[in-house]
Amino acid sequence: MNASAPAAPPALPQVPRLRAFRNSLALADNPIPIITQYLDELGDTIGLHMGGIKPTLLTRDPGLIQHILQKNHRNYPKSEMSHGVARYLGHGLLTSEGSYWLQQRRLIQPGFHRQRIAALTETMLQVIDECLEPVAALARQQGGATTVAVHELMTATAFRIIARSVFSTSMSEAELQQLAHLLTDIQAFYTRTLRQPYLKPWLAVKGQFRYHDQLAAQMRQLVLKYIRQRQQEGGAGKDDLLQMLLDARYEDTNEPMTEEQVLDEAIILLVAGHETSANALSWLWYLLAQHPEVVAKLRAEMAAALGERRPTFQDLPQLPYALQVIQETMRLYPPAWIVDRQALEDDEYNGLKLPKGTLISAYIYGVHHLPRLWPEPEAFRPERFGKEQLREQPAYAYLPFGGGPRLCIGNQFALTEMQLVLLETLRRFEVEWEAQPAPGLRPLITLRPRAEITLQFRLRA
Ligand code: HEM
Repeated sequence: MNASAPAAPPALPQVPRLRAFRNSLALADNPIPIITQYLDELGDTIGLHMGGIKPTLLTRDPGLIQHILQKNHRNYPKSEMSHGVARYLGHGLLTSEGSYWLQQRRLIQPGFHRQRIAALTETMLQVIDECLEPVAALARQQGGATTVAVHELMTATAFRIIARSVFSTSMSEAELQQLAHLLTDIQAFYTRTLRQPYLKPWLAVKGQFRYHDQLAAQMRQLVLKYIRQRQQEGGAGKDDLLQMLLDARYEDTNEPMTEEQVLDEAIILLVAGHETSANALSWLWYLLAQHPEVVAKLRAEMAAALGERRPTFQDLPQLPYALQVIQETMRLYPPAWIVDRQALEDDEYNGLKLPKGTLISAYIYGVHHLPRLWPEPEAFRPERFGKEQLREQPAYAYLPFGGGPRLCIGNQFALTEMQLVLLETLRRFEVEWEAQPAPGLRPLITLRPRAEITLQFRLRA
């Protein structure tokens, strides 16, 4: 070999197209085992045809993920897969792009500052109370303990927390449920069109696109009603997220958002802000019920910081282990398990060519399960998130909230809400394991448990 010849650029290992096509049904059902196997066989960054059709670069390389999300983020807007959902959810922060996104992000960011989250904790605690009280009542009736469908309870709790943080108490119980169902149906349908693109003509013939457009219109109508109601009432005394959206003014013009913009952003907050937390909380109880030693440590920390009283926002920094438990849960089960980007122009990363138009899926679940970053990756060890241990991790080894400028705007909101649910539940109940098969993974846009998780909630003396 000629020593002066430039080294050949690394080629992208490809999953053979026929194999990808053969696996497409199983992939539509649960892609995680299949793509993990491809990566284990071929390397941390591979090419594959999603559903046998869409050429995609899939990576669990933290360096490449940092490159697309942060270092060269301008070249990597979200992919058409992410933008496609705007058809149903509108153009809020999660689905918008470029200068419009930046303008909206700057406008909305102050709504998520520490003091705002602190102000919302009383609402969060009230909702947690309302969601746990019926469980306690059932347990009292049944001799001190009751079986709880945990994913159902956590979904209801997280949805009420975000809905009340956005709308205060305006929305009725029936409407809350209607909204939750509309969101779930739309999401399930959209994920199906992504995973099984070859079904699109059939879905069109069956009127499924029209039907889901109607569901989306229904959802917008419902949310719009509350925006108009608030505008009529005026915002006196309200410090919820809706009021924050209505009061925000663009720096240059001092103008507020239009009604359409407020609607788009409110919907996006509801969508982005509940399923993610609900899934993380469900997995949290699944893990804690099997790890009494972790619960014992949590209880010791709670006893020292709180005694028997309920936590406040100011107490949370005194409860670092509670945070570590949540961080470790989201390492094992990252609610946003994959995020997508698409190259605007030709680019290169460590010699790997990334031509214009390349679809890139950053496989967050894969990064969080890499043995070289997380020894014995399947083990639940909140101690990994102790200050000392964390210092040794490279950038982007852990990214449940994404990274770069599009980092989750609700990350502090979510961590606070999850800590409060954790602490308030443990204050009232012992959460005990019931023999059951592993629930399995159901990775839609977020990582849900496939089967319900049922646990015993026993009232504490
Ligand atoms: C455990 C809970 C949560 C997780 C794991 C999570 C995760 C994420 C991730 C990974 C992204 C970036 C997506 C990408 O780069 O493509 C994101 C964006 C976003 N999240 Fe969250 N999220 C959570 C909770 C919340 C909550 C509670 C809210 C609202 C109150 C929220 C609102 C948003 C919004 C609006 C964006 C878009 C931000 C932008 O592009 O500027 N999230 N989230």
